[in-house]
Amino acid sequence: MRHLINERFLERVMQTSPAKRVQAAINKVVGPLGIRVVRNRHDWSDTQNFIPLKGTLAAAQKASLSVGDYIDTVMNNIPGATRFMIDSLHKLGVFDDAVASALEIGPGSGRYLEKIVEACRPARYEIYETAKPWANYLVSRHNVILQPTDGSSLAPTADASCDLVMAFKVFSSIPFMPTIRYWLEMQRVTRPGGRIVFDVMTEDCLPPGAIATWAASGINNGAYPAVMPRRPMLALFDTAGFALVGSFRAPMGVGQTETFVFRKT
Ligand SMILES: C[S@@+](CC[C@H](N)C(=O)[O-])C[C@H]1O[C@@H](n2cnc3c(N)ncnc32)[C@H](O)[C@@H]1O
Repeated sequence: MRHLINERFLERVMQTSPAKRVQAAINKVVGPLGIRVVRNRHDWSDTQNFIPLKGTLAAAQKASLSVGDYIDTVMNNIPGATRFMIDSLHKLGVFDDAVASALEIGPGSGRYLEKIVEACRPARYEIYETAKPWANYLVSRHNVILQPTDGSSLAPTADASCDLVMAFKVFSSIPFMPTIRYWLEMQRVTRPGGRIVFDVMTEDCLPPGAIATWAASGINNGAYPAVMPRRPMLALFDTAGFALVGSFRAPMGVGQTETFVFRKT
């Protein structure tokens, strides 16, 4: 099992003053509240609905940034976050074998999706996404299959049919029950030799100070940020015949999540 020792990216972001990071988190919650009340009544505690499509596309265009770069740099205040994730997955060998069939839960804007497609060119890319406008946007822009999404199962996907099964910043946003159901489903649809990738906010992501920073973030309601203990999760995957290839931490909101790569033996 490999731990990536590339902590520089994490350190660089975490060294941004807590006040600035707290402000970014508050902006993330309070800023859009104006839009919620005035423009489209978006409910930010409803994590199944993601950010508003039209407003985000327009803001990205105004900033002359791709949607992914806009989300990384302006909304999340974590420039280079998506690229760091993809580079780290490369280092852990996620793209070493041919990927004919990929599946992603909760791709949102597709900031990871577009780079994963670039990295491994899967012939088939299934998505499960509860935010309808973004799901339709991804279908119109990428050659992906939008599967009927009930919020916790991958029922339309056949057993052992996927080489790469992923979720980014999803299990740090949704409640415990859909997360554990998705885990069992991810295990079911992964073929032997295939890989599972996802991130969660484990106890290792809550060093001294992090809890105070989250407490000051202005976020009060809803499932985000969701914390998941590391040991039972690792035991669940181990018991089901998934070897842990490696893990690494990266910033999320005012804190961080830990990304895990498993391989089905
Ligand atoms: C925090 S966003 C992350 C989006 C994207 N993965 C990223 O990192 O930019 C969570 C995403 O998961 C979607 N989502 C929330 N609950 C879901 C569920 N139960 N099943 C599938 N997608 C879900 C949201 O609509 C949103 O697109």
